[in-house]
Amino acid sequence: MVEIEIDGNIVKANPGEMLIAVTDRESISVPRFCYHKKLSIAANCRMCLVDVEGAPKAQPACSTPIAEGMKIHTRNEKAKASQKAVMEFLLINHPLDCPICDQGGECELQDVAMEYGSDVSRFSEGKRIVGDSDIGALIQTDMTRCIHCTRCIRFGTEVAGIMEMGATGRGEDLKIEPFLTEGIQSELSGNMIDVCPVGALTSKPFRYELRTWQMNAVSNVARHDLVGSNIYTQTYKGKVKRIVARDNESVNETWISDRDRFSYEGLSHENRLLTPQIKVAGKWQEAEWNVALDFAIRGLANNVFNSHQSDQLGALASNTASLEEFHLLQKILREVGSENIDHRLNVKDHNNTISLESNIKLSGLEGIDHALIIGSNLRLEQPMINHRLRKATLAGATVDVVNVMAFDFNYRLNSENIVAPNQTAATLAGVLKSILQSNHKEIPDYLNEVEISDTAAQLADQLLQSENSVIVLGEHLINNPQASSVANLVSEIANQTNSTTLNVTATGNSMAANLAGFVPGKGGLDVNAMLDADLKAYILLDVYPHYDFHNSIKAIDALNSNDTFVISLNSFKDEAVSEYSDVMLPIASFYETPSSHVNVEGAVQSYSAAVSAPSDAKPAWKVLKVLADLLELPGFHYSNCAQVTSEVSHQRQKQRVNEESVDLTVKRGINVIWQKSPYAIDALLRHSASLQDTKIGQLNNASMNKATAKKLELEKGDEYLGIPVIVNDTVANNCVFVNANHSTQIGGHL
Ligand code: SF4
Ligand code: FES
Repeated sequence: MVEIEIDGNIVKANPGEMLIAVTDRESISVPRFCYHKKLSIAANCRMCLVDVEGAPKAQPACSTPIAEGMKIHTRNEKAKASQKAVMEFLLINHPLDCPICDQGGECELQDVAMEYGSDVSRFSEGKRIVGDSDIGALIQTDMTRCIHCTRCIRFGTEVAGIMEMGATGRGEDLKIEPFLTEGIQSELSGNMIDVCPVGALTSKPFRYELRTWQMNAVSNVARHDLVGSNIYTQTYKGKVKRIVARDNESVNETWISDRDRFSYEGLSHENRLLTPQIKVAGKWQEAEWNVALDFAIRGLANNVFNSHQSDQLGALASNTASLEEFHLLQKILREVGSENIDHRLNVKDHNNTISLESNIKLSGLEGIDHALIIGSNLRLEQPMINHRLRKATLAGATVDVVNVMAFDFNYRLNSENIVAPNQTAATLAGVLKSILQSNHKEIPDYLNEVEISDTAAQLADQLLQSENSVIVLGEHLINNPQASSVANLVSEIANQTNSTTLNVTATGNSMAANLAGFVPGKGGLDVNAMLDADLKAYILLDVYPHYDFHNSIKAIDALNSNDTFVISLNSFKDEAVSEYSDVMLPIASFYETPSSHVNVEGAVQSYSAAVSAPSDAKPAWKVLKVLADLLELPGFHYSNCAQVTSEVSHQRQKQRVNEESVDLTVKRGINVIWQKSPYAIDALLRHSASLQDTKIGQLNNASMNKATAKKLELEKGDEYLGIPVIVNDTVANNCVFVNANHSTQIGGHL
């Protein structure tokens, strides 16, 4: 480190680092607009001018590298005069419409103008006016306010990886506008609102709602993916009004996905379940909580406990539940003597699953030199994980992909290999055989007949040449006909090449479900076995059958069975739920209950409720605790949620590991890969109107190549499983890839 002098104080700094990074570290205030710690340096606003001794003119602190012995003045006459001159220049064309601007109160321009601006404008000419562009449902533009800092452009090219905003014209005619008429389509687009230092880009759903100082901010964690991005939930009079990113370098850095930013809209949807209801003689009646809970307990007693048939009770939960809710529900089941517990509702065959554990940290993804992604449209499935991988590619990492069709990655791929689901295991077997041959290792019997294709050889070479590679297993593998063989092959490939693995096949809070042991224990039934067994009673936690089950028709039929007693805890009303349930208990949604999320690296992040649940809805952990008390079960003496968290976060359940066997028999027939739109993966998202209005929210199609379409006697515009057909020749043969949005319910055809 070298010594420099700033405003008369000796400061240590790294040679070459930018002066503004040093002043920020030393809490010396230097005004700025275009500088952003996570973006490249543009040095175009000139607001950060400071006096560097020896330099004839004031220098921009954001682009002046440190050198030994530098003497800098940030507040002397020369520095201040330069800063004031730039401020005056920037305000020449600014409309100064703070009273009607949503950014008021949190505007960098407003703040800096208070300190460096003048009371009186010397500019009497007409101001420049720029027309607004409609860039989609999430971001409102008021481009007359733009100061051309280019942060939004740099965010697009450097972070989102899609150049959607750009600068056109020069001088007085310079405009920042979207390049494409369809508007902004990035899954991270909302971050542009955060980086814009003025009110040119603001949140459309939040437009004209409130001033920032009127709201409370609660530290919170988003629960829509395997990252658990840190957020501030901003509230007003008990309502969530806005979500903004909270810095956490090891989790989400400074960014959040649009899904995490805008899902809060669903909280105030008219479809919320607000009062407990019981079904009497086939008719729903609203009831007090004590009446509904008594009714639930009586139902369980009549159907299960009085006849000593605890093994006739099952518990199912969606991956939106919290760690505490998973823990309490499995504890109730185990206390009464049932091991019928499952959260893997969308898995077709529980003897054929991907149970590989991840062994890489989120921040570690940036340091990899190669990634092999198998079965994933990672950008839409796990936007923040994809962002880390993109950073690695910008530093030189290569990425190979094995997918059933071509997806729109926002980084350059080394190779994109289209492989049908029923060929994935054979391809990976070829990769493993090639690696073993190169390493002069013995070839196991099951690989004897395997042929090494060019694709397999290339994938193997790349893994062998890499020193720090990761193999990513994505959501499309969850129902691969050879899922467990794929997992076992990947495990062995990783062993042989010292690669790390990242399993993102299940999302939401699925890691919390595993940690809490929300899977069948010894002698217990998995979800499909429960539905087959025609159980006598269920407790269902935030389950929406049309969206959550692998085979919703079978699930609804089983739950509708006449002698099955169903207790449903839900945040939203649902027709199918009200058909099969006997009691419906309204529960708090995200943000309305203290809870914990477990992310893909196993980090437990706990947070408190930002607001109370509406009307009679209650946090699910409380409802489950009272149910347990009414059942007179021991060990439920919790007075707050934190006690539940501390009980569960220290235990680690062993995941069930599949038999280490590989079956390479190719299952013939049409393979359907069904993926919910990223904005339809849970009930809160499905009720968030603005997200549904985006291009991503409207993705709803069944893609297949010409040959498959011909075989199925379909063409563009026809419907397959009720979804419009798209003919796309990048789809593997004999494969249909379905993108289903909130309007499409998964059927029983898979
Ligand atoms: S819109 Fe905002 S972020 Fe983009 S250039 Fe203008 S002021 Fe900067
Ligand atoms: S912040 Fe330094 S020139 Fe803009």
